[in-house]
Amino acid sequence: MDHNEQQDTVHKPIKRKEMSRRQFLTYTLGGATAFMAGGVILPMIRFAVDPILQKKTSGNFVKVIEESKVTKEPQQVDFKVHQIDGWYESDPKMQAWLTKGDDGKVFALSPICKHLGCTIGWSGEEAPNEYHCPCHGARYTKDGKNLKVAPKPLDEYEVKLENGWVYLGPLLANTRVK
Ligand code: FES
Repeated sequence: MDHNEQQDTVHKPIKRKEMSRRQFLTYTLGGATAFMAGGVILPMIRFAVDPILQKKTSGNFVKVIEESKVTKEPQQVDFKVHQIDGWYESDPKMQAWLTKGDDGKVFALSPICKHLGCTIGWSGEEAPNEYHCPCHGARYTKDGKNLKVAPKPLDEYEVKLENGWVYLGPLLANTRVK
């Protein structure tokens, strides 16, 4: 190696792979856009799935009447149930027919006719000691057994007794009649 060749090797500048201004701007803007998009999109995703992440509160009971006021004669009680359906909260009004059975147990029937969903009433001249539906004439016994028109017995609320009060829970299929 002669002197000149040695000089070339020694003074040869090191080649660096430099980023062009355009690449720098592309990366910077791309990163900033991705960061901002994440800040907007992630809360939206969280909001969309929020009801799915919430714990379900099932089996809520509502206090409706003192147990001592329930007799063998069916009586109508009105109450409200707090419902959460996704993002929508409501307190729909509900009704039940409460009776003390011959077995001494308090039971509560749904007032919704099992034919096409009209609201039933209790007793009267047309149907003494029976539930009757004004729409198409369905009849039910005091226990909710379907006597005519309706294909099924009246539904029954789950009942809980606590400290002298009657609490109503979810609706179930009638347990008092076969
Ligand atoms: S809805 Fe009650 S009889 Fe038809």
